Amino acid sequence: MELNLKLPNELRQRLANKTAAEPIYCIKTDLSLTGNYTDRLYIGATEKEIFILGEEEKFIPISSVQSASCINLVNGGILTVSIDGEEIMLARCSMTHISRFFCLAKGIKWLSEGKTDKRVVNTEREKYCKKCGRVLPGTSHCPKCDKEHRNFNRLINICKPHAATLVVIVALMLFGSAIDLSVQFVLRYFVDGYLVTGKGTALNVLVVFAVYFGITLVSAIGYLYRTYLCNKLGIGVSYRLRAQLNNHIQKLSLSFLDKRNPGAVIERVMNDTNHVRGFICDCFCNMFGMLVTLVSLAVLMLVLNWKLALAAFAFAPLIIIFARTFWPKIRRIFHNQHRRSDRIHNKLQDVLSGIRIVKTYGKEKEEVEEFCKLNDKLADVQRSNETFFAIFFPFLSLLLAFGSYLITYLGGMGVLEGSMTVGELMQFISYAGMLLGPLSWMSFLPRRIINMTTSLERIYDILDEVPGIINKENALKKEIEGNIEINNITFGYNSYEPVLENLSLKVKKGEMIGLVGSSGCGKSTLINLIMRLYDTDEGEILIDGNNIKDLDLASYHSSIGVVLQETFLFAGTVLDNIRFANPSASMLDIIKAAKSANAHEFICKLPDGYNTYIGEKGHMLSGGEKQRIAIARAILTNPKILILDEATSALDTESEYQIQEAFERLRKGRTTFAIAHRLSTLRNADRIAVINDKKVEELGTHNELLQLKGIYYGLVMAQLEMNKNKE
Ligand SMILES: Nc1ncnc2c1ncn2[C@@H]1O[C@H](COP(=O)(O)OP(=O)(O)OP(=O)(O)O)[C@@H](O)[C@H]1O
Ligand SMILES: [Mg+2]
Repeated sequence: MELNLKLPNELRQRLANKTAAEPIYCIKTDLSLTGNYTDRLYIGATEKEIFILGEEEKFIPISSVQSASCINLVNGGILTVSIDGEEIMLARCSMTHISRFFCLAKGIKWLSEGKTDKRVVNTEREKYCKKCGRVLPGTSHCPKCDKEHRNFNRLINICKPHAATLVVIVALMLFGSAIDLSVQFVLRYFVDGYLVTGKGTALNVLVVFAVYFGITLVSAIGYLYRTYLCNKLGIGVSYRLRAQLNNHIQKLSLSFLDKRNPGAVIERVMNDTNHVRGFICDCFCNMFGMLVTLVSLAVLMLVLNWKLALAAFAFAPLIIIFARTFWPKIRRIFHNQHRRSDRIHNKLQDVLSGIRIVKTYGKEKEEVEEFCKLNDKLADVQRSNETFFAIFFPFLSLLLAFGSYLITYLGGMGVLEGSMTVGELMQFISYAGMLLGPLSWMSFLPRRIINMTTSLERIYDILDEVPGIINKENALKKEIEGNIEINNITFGYNSYEPVLENLSLKVKKGEMIGLVGSSGCGKSTLINLIMRLYDTDEGEILIDGNNIKDLDLASYHSSIGVVLQETFLFAGTVLDNIRFANPSASMLDIIKAAKSANAHEFICKLPDGYNTYIGEKGHMLSGGEKQRIAIARAILTNPKILILDEATSALDTESEYQIQEAFERLRKGRTTFAIAHRLSTLRNADRIAVINDKKVEELGTHNELLQLKGIYYGLVMAQLEMNKNKE
């Protein structure tokens, strides 16, 4: 996201009059302080000054600012600075600019603290087109302002591996066109030489019929083979695109996927690739042939009778102007339609995966209504789309038809005047008819092309996304020992809103660290960073002295065992789910892991034992059972780093006790991070880290922290009190 916009010349001059320093940050806002919409209000900072320029004008010396912050309000935010202990409201914005406002506040804060060499970077995607200001339809490029040829280049690139098939298709198409064109010469000579002169015999007619039949048969066989090849090409391309998309999605970091709905991603993998296939089968392969036919027809007609030919083409410029004018509009219509289709897909996906909640709250009717609303919106846009095309195409066809009427009239007059033979006129009218075919086919082309380019844009929107977590080329594939050093890390899911700030923690191999803190303080976030599901914004994490970013991801992940806060099991058998972590594990290892996780007994009682199919997300199992399978899965890899995020929260006291015992055995020789709200679970931890206010606020053994009488002490006391009340 751009944080240093170029000021318009006049405002630049006004800033230059005030200060010689260049802007470090400069963003635009769309609301004045009074809340009125504005298109000309900039706010930013140089090293010395905060400036507001445009409809308002204000300069504030950075040296007078103690701090700056952005407050998120309903549908917008405000930027405030604190001067002499007083909060001053500097600017307002709608949600369009809120992310930039947060960044600017952070930037001003750094400048006021004298950190003049640090710059705020915002890696978030733009939600609005920089050029035209329109909302981007879920893609990073604006369909209105983006160059169309990019999509064609992409299409050509996609088809490159199938070049040989494409060449055969084009050759067949040319062959077909040549046959169609030459047939008309046979007809002309037959009419002028035999029919009009009356010299023709029954044998002549039979020969012409046989030639016609033969040519049509060859042409039909060529057409059949061409259709087969076109389908083969289309299916091949969409197959590769789907595979490419899936490969790429697996590589993308969670921060990208967090911001996408699974339904929308599925829509791109399945439907958009299908649109590309449809285009290649029906249009792309025919396009070259049609073009060649069109050009050869035009040349032939010009040679035969240039005046009539020009009459036939009279309306072509109008058609081109018409199509070009409506092109951007049609592109937007298609993007809109796809976006609405995405929403329906998301809704369905969401409701079906949360169907238990829908039913328990008796919200089926509301969900049906909600779906109907989305469905209505899709139908609306489809209706307006179809209405547009229902007018657009007949109009184009009418323009095309005018050309052929004109030929018939002018040619008829020519025959009467004797400047043209009947055979010539018939040949000409046939050519005009043949011209009509490709032309009206081409008049449908904008719709097909735009539907395909919209899909291509959406597909490439994912394929062009650079994975946030990159596995370096010469990444280290080392055996992990488990020494972890976290140095001054700052991280936020939105780069401008840190969840953890300047957090440091050193953990020796084999040590068990309990992570404690209020809900939402960032415990799971910290382990997400240790697992490198996200990269830190600042600071570094060292594993055995190596930066986590230098380690080979796959080899690092294979040395981590993890039980996440939300147990996730895949649709499949119990065995598949445990084996997921280590596909090469023997049955004996799996049973051993299940026994350690206290899961073996209940698995044996299932109808098909280890082969029992557990439904999607394992919904056929109880919460505790799912958790135990997840624990078995985590320990199967014999991990060097064990991460337990509320790993025993769904277990009864008896099972928890047994699992705790198992963990006690397991954690020997492994670095363990355990998160638990029930503090008694962490009594065996070597040290406990209390996360508060975005950093580790207390660190020590259970007894040390109790003596400290700080946050941990408060939490323990509160839980004791609660337990006492229960009793
Ligand atoms: N994927 C995400 N995208 C955006 N924000 C997130 C995401 N995951 C968590 N957060 C936010 O980050 C903050 C820390 O969340 P985190 O899950 O680390 O808390 P926690 O300490 O594990 O809480 P709990 O004890 O309830 O599990 C919360 O404010 C949460 O809203
Ligand atoms: Mg959590």
